[in-house]
Amino acid sequence: MTFSRILGTGGYLPERVMTNADLEAIVDTTSAWIRERTGIEKRHLASEGESCCDLAEAAARRALEAAGIGPDDLDLILVATTTPDQFFPSTACLLQQRLGNRGAPAFDLQAVCAGFVYALSVADQFIRTGAARRALVVGAETISRLLDWNDRTTCVLFGDGAGAVVLGASDEPGIVSTHIHADGAYKDLLQVPGGHGNGRPEARFLEMRGNEVFRFAVNTLGRIVDETLDANGLSTADIDWLIPHQANIRIIQATARKLDLPMDRVVVTVAQHGNTSSASIPLAFDEAVRDGRIRRGETLLMEAFGGGFTWGSALIRY
Ligand code: UT7
Repeated sequence: MTFSRILGTGGYLPERVMTNADLEAIVDTTSAWIRERTGIEKRHLASEGESCCDLAEAAARRALEAAGIGPDDLDLILVATTTPDQFFPSTACLLQQRLGNRGAPAFDLQAVCAGFVYALSVADQFIRTGAARRALVVGAETISRLLDWNDRTTCVLFGDGAGAVVLGASDEPGIVSTHIHADGAYKDLLQVPGGHGNGRPEARFLEMRGNEVFRFAVNTLGRIVDETLDANGLSTADIDWLIPHQANIRIIQATARKLDLPMDRVVVTVAQHGNTSSASIPLAFDEAVRDGRIRRGETLLMEAFGGGFTWGSALIRY
């Protein structure tokens, strides 16, 4: 059998930083409120002229370097993003051109904050079936451009960034299993209502019913983790690292509590960059790989939740 193995990881955060104190000058908020309710200390924002593809490219190049392969070796390029640079071509095609790869299939995948786990799942299917042997999977977002900077209930939560992994075919896992779900019945709880398809391009700001999203996220993330462990006959004790979507420290802590997993086995980066949507898991993963916390052979559990609602998980033997 063929499995996908993680060959390398990369991450990139734009240079421009906005702290909680900076936000105090923009909206009616306090550093303490943001820190206590979300765990966020600062976020990075793309500068004027800096595109989602710029962030994706920086993360992708780092992942390729870590994997020790070049762009020509890729036979699949996937970009999970909610903020593509253009309606078309896809950000994946723009990235492919930057990297200089020609001919590999390249496409974007839109599952908001669960986008990276979705894309990992899709790339894993390509590799398991033999349709690809080397895949680049990127989560990249300039989500700050969807924010209403007068709305304190949302603008303090998000930031821009990109994370990437390179997958390679292998005789052993690798990606042990992925589990993805959606329920569009909850479409109104977290959304950007406008677009060109519905003729409302002006309604371009993110709207969220925070409390309801919070409750649903905690319950759903607990269930997806149980589903993943059950599918593999594992228990929490078998997990070396939980790599959750970085939206709110209180959601992360609640999920860890439900699992009875101590926080020192959870990778937490939300303080440093806020919610970067599809970039958050690969950014956290890359940081913990590069600082030596995550080692080869360890078992990792990724879980994410986002607008749609969409949610998913990936169990990985690193
Ligand atoms: O990526 C996945 C999608 N997103 C999420 O996972 C986010 C899920 N939701 C959350 O993380 C939390 O619900 C929030 C961080 C958005 C809000 O935290 P909360 O503890 O649920 O606060 P709340 O909405 O219950 O608001 C409490 C109070 C309200 O004031 P009143 O009505 O009690 O007087 C808000 O108006 O806090 C007020 N508030 C703020 N105060 C200062 C809301 N935002 C702010 C703010 N600064 N930025």
